[in-house]
Amino acid sequence: MLLYLFLTLPILLSGCSKETEKKEQLQKSEEAKAINVKIPPVVKDKCIMCHDVFKRKVGPSFVQVRDRYKEDPKAIEKISRSIKRGSQGKWGRVAMLPNDVTEEEAKQIAEWIMSLK
Ligand code: HEC
Repeated sequence: MLLYLFLTLPILLSGCSKETEKKEQLQKSEEAKAINVKIPPVVKDKCIMCHDVFKRKVGPSFVQVRDRYKEDPKAIEKISRSIKRGSQGKWGRVAMLPNDVTEEEAKQIAEWIMSLK
């Protein structure tokens, strides 16, 4: 029995450190992705206080938005309308007020969101 413990303990321990290693790698790759993503200036200016590309903040992350509309042929139209006019009840209890952007900017941001890798 004791021998059994001796044999399995190192395996268990190395298994654990592999887990944390994996987590660290994942974190690093998320950070690397975050660095590689070019956030348009208008988004930095007007949206980043409530949105992040990868993490949910006050509003959904932009990759969450991309995933929800991935199969929707009207994605760009719907997303740019939400950006321009605001949105409520789609993601939670907090609503988004209309944003101070032009139709053109809203469309470009929607296209950027759907192009996220
Ligand atoms: C004050 C906080 C706040 C700001 C500023 C803000 N948002 Fe939002 N956003 C939210 C919240 C909250 C939601 C979820 C609304 C809902 O549940 O329908 C949301 C939802 C969204 C959605 C999803 C809409 C949908 O139809 O599914 C998009 C896209 C979005 N925001 C983009 C933007 C962009 C682009 C900007 C900047 C021009 C911006 N947001 C600025 C809080 C904000």
